[in-house]
Amino acid sequence: MSKYSIAWMPGDGIGQDVMEAARLVLDAMRFDAEYVPCDIGWEFWCREGNALPDRTVKALQSTTCGLFGAITSKPQDDAVKELAPELKSKGLSYFSPIVKLRQMFNLHTNMRPCKSYPGNPLNYRGTALGNPGGGDVPVDQVIFRENTEGSYVGVEFRPIPEAIYTALCANPKMKAWKEKGLENLALSTRIMSKQGCESICRQAFEFAKRNGRKRVTLVEKPNVLRETGGLMTRVFRDMAESYPGIWADEANIDAICMWMFKNPQDYSVLVAENMFGDIVSDLCAGLVGGLGFAPSANLGDKYAVFEPTHGSAPKYAGQYKVNPIAMLLTVKMMFDWLGENERATRLEAAIARVIREGKVRTYDMGGKDTTLDVAKAIAAYAA
Ligand code: NAI
Ligand code: MG
Repeated sequence: MSKYSIAWMPGDGIGQDVMEAARLVLDAMRFDAEYVPCDIGWEFWCREGNALPDRTVKALQSTTCGLFGAITSKPQDDAVKELAPELKSKGLSYFSPIVKLRQMFNLHTNMRPCKSYPGNPLNYRGTALGNPGGGDVPVDQVIFRENTEGSYVGVEFRPIPEAIYTALCANPKMKAWKEKGLENLALSTRIMSKQGCESICRQAFEFAKRNGRKRVTLVEKPNVLRETGGLMTRVFRDMAESYPGIWADEANIDAICMWMFKNPQDYSVLVAENMFGDIVSDLCAGLVGGLGFAPSANLGDKYAVFEPTHGSAPKYAGQYKVNPIAMLLTVKMMFDWLGENERATRLEAAIARVIREGKVRTYDMGGKDTTLDVAKAIAAYAA
């Protein structure tokens, strides 16, 4: 029997390419695991009307953790058009299977490290005034994104049902909206709980404390989103008091897009609700070379699913052109979570070495090598 059982979910598009790269490296490192193939993604939506079949949910329940490539998601109207003919009239709604997985398995924390590795030609060099000497701006950030609440819960309406409109009219600001016609209105909600805010802030502060990081920054917008943003800000401030050695500061989502561009090296740990975390993590990924370098972990109390931040990039699907490094850094995060610390260190060192040497590079780094070429080069150093 293998030591671990890994739910193997390549999903769609380049998810397949980068997972093949992951397997190559896992095998070279003689990782003691069995891999349980699981159906997930667009193909299963089109064929079965369900992008996350029940058999996949069941299979996941008997594994140690999951490794996931990417999925394709489309807006509801487009999704229905691609359903098998016999399913078209069934009133099925598309939902993103990875968002659903996060909710079903209560994977409340999305951890997204963004770190620049020396020698990466895509490393951020800052603005000319802020970095007159040129050279890479060293970035080493970890984003903690709340993963199960906020505007990703899927509580949305179009048109707005009369009963909901009536309830909303308890707020006098809503009255004027009726003149626009209820059929012309759409409503998306952002629902957050005190528990959800506490949990994500706790994860961020604990991580900072364990890893000797000195600053935790909350990314919010409490001046406009007064209730949800206000709740998160209060929780953050209260919690900061129990971490006296850590500088806890706050930034609005719009402001941090500017500050991150000017002074990314100043930030260390960032914490945010679901959508702001999604936004800021792509921004940070851009500073360290783009989506080809951005790993992530969906962490619950007992289960976790690891996935690169990027999506299925349909235009590159099956071409083995994209960078596998995001996926391989994701495997490194899986090793960390499993307590396979020596393997994690070995894999990260191999990735850093291949980046530093610059001999094998995918298109995004200016090279012509394939996804699997890069994986093989990393595997050779990690083995
Ligand atoms: P995307 O992340 O798939 O790709 C955007 C662009 O980033 C690509 O065209 C490519 O230029 C670059 N890129 C992405 N991964 C790369 C890699 N490993 N190496 C080099 N370059 C890379 O985002 P996009 O185009 O917005 O979405 C495509 C599909 O993916 C959509 O259906 C979307 O819903 C889905 N998606 C799924 C996610 C997931 O599975 N968690 C996350 C984001 C998007
Ligand atoms: Mg995103």
